[in-house]
Amino acid sequence: MTGGSAEAFGAEVGAEMGTEMGAEIGEAFGAAFGRAPDGVWHAPGRVNLIGEHTDYNDGLVLPFALSRGVTVAAARRDDGVIDVRSRQAPTAVTAPVDGPPVVSEGWPADRAWAAYPVGVARVLREHGTGGASLLIDSDLPQGAGLSSSAALECATALALCDLHGVEIDRPALARLAQRAENEQAGIPCGLMDQSASLLCTAGHALMLDCRSGLSSQVPFDPAAAGLTLLVVDTRASHALGGGEYGRRRAECEEAASLLGVDALRDVKDLAAALGSLKDPVLRRRVQHVVTENHRVEATVGLLRAGALPEFGAMLNASHLSLRDQFEVSWPEADATVDAALRAGARGGRMIGGGFGGSVIVLAPAARAERVGEAVTAAYEKRGWTPPRFLEAVPSDGARRLG
Ligand code: GLA
Repeated sequence: MTGGSAEAFGAEVGAEMGTEMGAEIGEAFGAAFGRAPDGVWHAPGRVNLIGEHTDYNDGLVLPFALSRGVTVAAARRDDGVIDVRSRQAPTAVTAPVDGPPVVSEGWPADRAWAAYPVGVARVLREHGTGGASLLIDSDLPQGAGLSSSAALECATALALCDLHGVEIDRPALARLAQRAENEQAGIPCGLMDQSASLLCTAGHALMLDCRSGLSSQVPFDPAAAGLTLLVVDTRASHALGGGEYGRRRAECEEAASLLGVDALRDVKDLAAALGSLKDPVLRRRVQHVVTENHRVEATVGLLRAGALPEFGAMLNASHLSLRDQFEVSWPEADATVDAALRAGARGGRMIGGGFGGSVIVLAPAARAERVGEAVTAAYEKRGWTPPRFLEAVPSDGARRLG
């Protein structure tokens, strides 16, 4: 690994670790609740290869699942209560499964993390699930833009469905988990993260059409092409609640309404659309969303053709568009992409909602070390907290471990 700080992400995770983590969390569950769990479930975080800020515009995305994620040990309860504890948070939270949207209850900051599992329980309640005792463990860094919230929602959702014998297909479950985040946690996210966590498969990225909900698996194996895909946690913490994400979403909706289309996905003639919008901010937003959807299609074509190195150019174009047109990048992300390219990377871009979180860098495997060092040096020069690196391996989506 590069830059010397991969350890900061914790122990190596793989198929095996899922099982080990399952056994360990089972014991911890016994210590917390005085009984064995009925089962253990895992849901991964994600990296989005390309297609940023397109999901809530009914567009296309191309994420893959990480090997890291959230593991939940759980036991069914029939008293309508959800009792949720986390190995990463000091406060235990007990709440009725029947209740108003969590966001309306004004929970204090130390309970905020539990809005996700409790919110999922409240949404799924309408579909026949009930209470549970849950112990949560995560090996995903929070605030790194790798979708730890979606992983938490999806692991909880799978656990509740299995415990209460409720069958919901995964695309529908992704929409329900998204609904929990929107209505219960009050975060206006799109459909990408929950779909990635539930639908991805090892060795593939997931091409998802966020309007139709249809998806297909696109082979993605950088190692086989002599490439390494690095995830760089820029250590600038990312949160969607901060207002800018919601503002971007509102701007896109306003532009769509001015253009007379249901969503920016429907803009076919970019020049005409740009010509008819007076507001330069809305023009920039439209430019990004329309071109980003085309970049997803082009990327899928390149990957299916086995032209992985050429995909670097798509990453660079996406980053520039997110920086200059959608205006959601941040200084550490720009410096990371810049340093990586100078050191010989094929491409790089910020991922996720923006204003903090992670960057992906595609580098020839033989140069990955040098690229990581160059990025670390760029941070040192500016006096920033050193970045953390993770080699991203496309992994399986959410599943029951035991
Ligand atoms: C966050 C949201 C997603 C998506 C991305 C931007 O990750 O949760 O729904 O909108 O930002 O592409």
